[in-house]
Amino acid sequence: MEWTATQQEMLDGRLGQASRKSMEILRALGEIYGARRFIEVKSVQIAGVSYDNLGDAGLEFLSEMARDGRVQVLTTLNPAGMDLENWRALGISEAFAEKQKLVIDAFSRMGVITTCTCTPYFVGNRPGLGDPIAWSESSAVCYANSVLGARTNREGGPSALAAALTGLTVEYGYHLDEARQPVVTVEVTHEMRDQIHFGALGQVLGKRLGNQVPYIKGIRTATVEQLKSLCASVATYGGTALFHLEGITPEKVREPDAGLRVADEEIEAAVRAMSDDAQVDFVAIGCPHCSLEELRTLAELLKGKKVVRETWVAVARPVKEQADREGIGRLIEASGAKFAADTCFVVAPIRGRFHCMATNSAKSVFYARGKNRFKTVFAPLEKLVDIATQG
Ligand code: F3S
Repeated sequence: MEWTATQQEMLDGRLGQASRKSMEILRALGEIYGARRFIEVKSVQIAGVSYDNLGDAGLEFLSEMARDGRVQVLTTLNPAGMDLENWRALGISEAFAEKQKLVIDAFSRMGVITTCTCTPYFVGNRPGLGDPIAWSESSAVCYANSVLGARTNREGGPSALAAALTGLTVEYGYHLDEARQPVVTVEVTHEMRDQIHFGALGQVLGKRLGNQVPYIKGIRTATVEQLKSLCASVATYGGTALFHLEGITPEKVREPDAGLRVADEEIEAAVRAMSDDAQVDFVAIGCPHCSLEELRTLAELLKGKKVVRETWVAVARPVKEQADREGIGRLIEASGAKFAADTCFVVAPIRGRFHCMATNSAKSVFYARGKNRFKTVFAPLEKLVDIATQG
């Protein structure tokens, strides 16, 4: 790899120990992937924020980096293990909360904007077409690459932090034109009416294509909410961090010759397979984190009703604050549903607390079953409200 005089100073530790360590992490990554140089990034999103995943070793690493590390670019965080304000209402223990706050404090000392969300693009961390960035969370990475046309690999926690503290990443993978070209055309004929169809399509594509980049045809329109569901699902079940949707996503690419069809029945079967025959005791809405538009719809659906099952709505705090200003936050809470700002159902320590989770997120189904050993019911938002409110 080649580097500039300033980058050499960082590698020598003349700009501090955190930037030296960060450069070493990035250089090692560059050597593994055969990168030729460092490139500047416009923004960073760091995963590895929940104390549930980090443990004491992770907290110690962050505290050490916070001694002299300061972020060089706009940097936000992935969901934490709890709502940073409302954690008691969600049943989080004092001991966990204390550790989680230390994690957030360490990031804060480094100058990170401690908004914890997998939808940073709703809260001001929104790169543009062609911008190099270093993001971590898989659905956000897929959204940035595919829907916004920005360029990022799927960073691990340490490499994203290293990018934040240096303003740099190494040029390989999705930063390069050739890796962004689709290799297979996918024809979709199913009428894609609901978010759950996009989640199911993501599952089918993920399982059939692995990490190949698809060029998807046949979907005429898609809302932001449907696109974030597709991103979350395709990245979870397959591993690709990029797709192109004909007429919808912004990047100009060549349509590949090789192709496959997704039969309508495959999508219907995927929807059915994500539901178990079990009694729901937990309703989880907001994976990826809800948009303001979703909160408006939810408030409308919940108006005048009371939930009879534990119901959480995961969201970025600034989106919740906007909902509060519009009066819809109050409407949602009046039903008994609880906001889970800053966190989500996968990184919060909830294993063993519930038996069956209802969700409209294919990604949540994967982790609820795999990580938390819950049964699942996969259904559209309207149905989730029925489940939450009917005895
Ligand atoms: Fe976001 Fe958590 Fe889902 S990070 S995409 S709400 S699993």
